[in-house]
Amino acid sequence: MPGLAINPDESAPYDLRSLFGADVSTIRLEIGFGGGEHLLHRVRENPGTGFIGIEPFVNSMAKLLGQVEGAEPDNLRLYDDDAVAILDWLPEASLDHIDLLYPDPWPKRRHWKRRFVSQVNLDRFCRVLKPGGRFCFASDIDSYINWTLLHCRRHGGFGWQAQSSEDWLRPYDNWPGTRYEDKARREGRSSAYLTFLRI
Ligand SMILES: C[S@@+](CC[C@H](N)C(=O)[O-])C[C@H]1O[C@@H](n2cnc3c(N)ncnc32)[C@H](O)[C@@H]1O
Repeated sequence: MPGLAINPDESAPYDLRSLFGADVSTIRLEIGFGGGEHLLHRVRENPGTGFIGIEPFVNSMAKLLGQVEGAEPDNLRLYDDDAVAILDWLPEASLDHIDLLYPDPWPKRRHWKRRFVSQVNLDRFCRVLKPGGRFCFASDIDSYINWTLLHCRRHGGFGWQAQSSEDWLRPYDNWPGTRYEDKARREGRSSAYLTFLRI
């Protein structure tokens, strides 16, 4: 981890691209990468993009590190705690893309307020995304999909990029799937793939 870790106690570089050893032109953040299948696929697929992966669950972080040990990608940096700390650390308009894939669903109504999508976190996304930057949200939980659509509409800083149901029922381009998605499918739940553009 030391070579890859981000330390939010140090100030963020003015030009976030300098965080990476690789010469990157765009920067992408994945919140709660779990087993890291999607994150590593994207890191390898896009060498000209710098990736910040965040995952507080130690076993998941260890699993990802085990997969890159000895050949750490120079377009990847990691953080092992709450994504809010990195969102508040990042310079304004520094990201091109945020992935929030199968966030903890909190399906019981009394727990909905714990969901990662909230007005305050959408404010954070809005601050760190460049105008036209992308926020991708995938979930298999209908109430969270509706919740996210309503929160983004209410927030006003995001436009939903869907013309027809095909746009949100079809996975993102070159989608490798995630472990959580596999579990949802095995249990008979389908998914929605929402894409918002920061206005
Ligand atoms: C349901 S799992 C999905 C994991 C992975 N994205 C997938 O699709 O397989 C949600 C993940 O979000 C992480 N998580 C929860 N709260 C978080 C937070 N505040 N910041 C970053 N990650 C968080 C959890 O540790 C967990 O790994």
